[in-house]
Amino acid sequence: MLKKISAVVLGGLMVTALAACGGDNGAGGSQPDDGKITLGFAQVGAESGWRTANTKSIQDSAKEAGIDLQFSDAQQKQENQIKAIRSYITQKVDVIAFSPVVESGWDTVLLEAKDAKIPVILTDRAVDSKDTTLYETFIGSDFVLEGKKAGEWLVGQYQGKPEPVNIVELQGTTGSAPANDRKSGFADVIKADPKFKIVASQTGDFTRAKGKEVMEAFLKANKDIDVLYAHNDDMGLGAIEAIEGAGLKPGVDIRIITVDAVKDGMQALADGKINYIVECSPLLGPQLMDLVKKVVAGESVPERVLTEETTFTQEQAKAALPNRQY
Ligand code: AHR
Repeated sequence: MLKKISAVVLGGLMVTALAACGGDNGAGGSQPDDGKITLGFAQVGAESGWRTANTKSIQDSAKEAGIDLQFSDAQQKQENQIKAIRSYITQKVDVIAFSPVVESGWDTVLLEAKDAKIPVILTDRAVDSKDTTLYETFIGSDFVLEGKKAGEWLVGQYQGKPEPVNIVELQGTTGSAPANDRKSGFADVIKADPKFKIVASQTGDFTRAKGKEVMEAFLKANKDIDVLYAHNDDMGLGAIEAIEGAGLKPGVDIRIITVDAVKDGMQALADGKINYIVECSPLLGPQLMDLVKKVVAGESVPERVLTEETTFTQEQAKAALPNRQY
């Protein structure tokens, strides 16, 4: 294969092309004619520590697996992801993988990939397409379960205490699978006891800056906040700055639950500023490369590959921090 190392900009979308590709690959699987697999990966963006770790995992494992990776960063915009996927179709990559920024609106471009006989793998986030033949498999976390774990911890903390518990919620990107599912999983658990009240819930777009901004607004509008539930560590970390700015003690005056367990989040947990973290693993690269190879070889793959995850208390974070990779 003729290797081409170049970087092209597609209407604000950065696509790093590590290799040219060829091969007349069928969605049912056939070896690329040059023996080298090319994977086009359309990433969401670089919005959080989780995403940075996820990108590194994908880039490192592609290298290790000898797969040529074409990588694009959509800057959290669906239109950019669609452009990237179309460019991968035009270039006839062997497999397309992507982490959909939102759940809806993918059918047309997925159908274009199917018509071009390029198999698609969903990573990290799901799409709501009714036609599941539009993609081969979906690898990622159970976000509903993550929300439930957050709710269960909270219910356990307030057992036997009848007073109302005022909760504010920082949601992830509007319309994204993790925001929808972490919200519904949490709500499902806490609804069993009416003392739990979500007094404010707004998107912080999974970023630290937005988390801080929205938490400042929550603090201005609500005098009595007991708990913050943030759909990721970054928004929680931004909110901690807002809470400290308001002269309150995060983790004490306001209890904080987040999702992800990236290093900065774990440090804040160990320092007592966060109370509980539900893990969401970004290390999807090795499993993704295995799936890519199988799909290209025409081997069958499971419809759903679930990520293994745990939860962390403050004590557990102290113990885990020295070996935390990301
Ligand atoms: O889709 C996974 C979520 O996206 C992570 O929890 C969040 O940090 C990221 O931006």
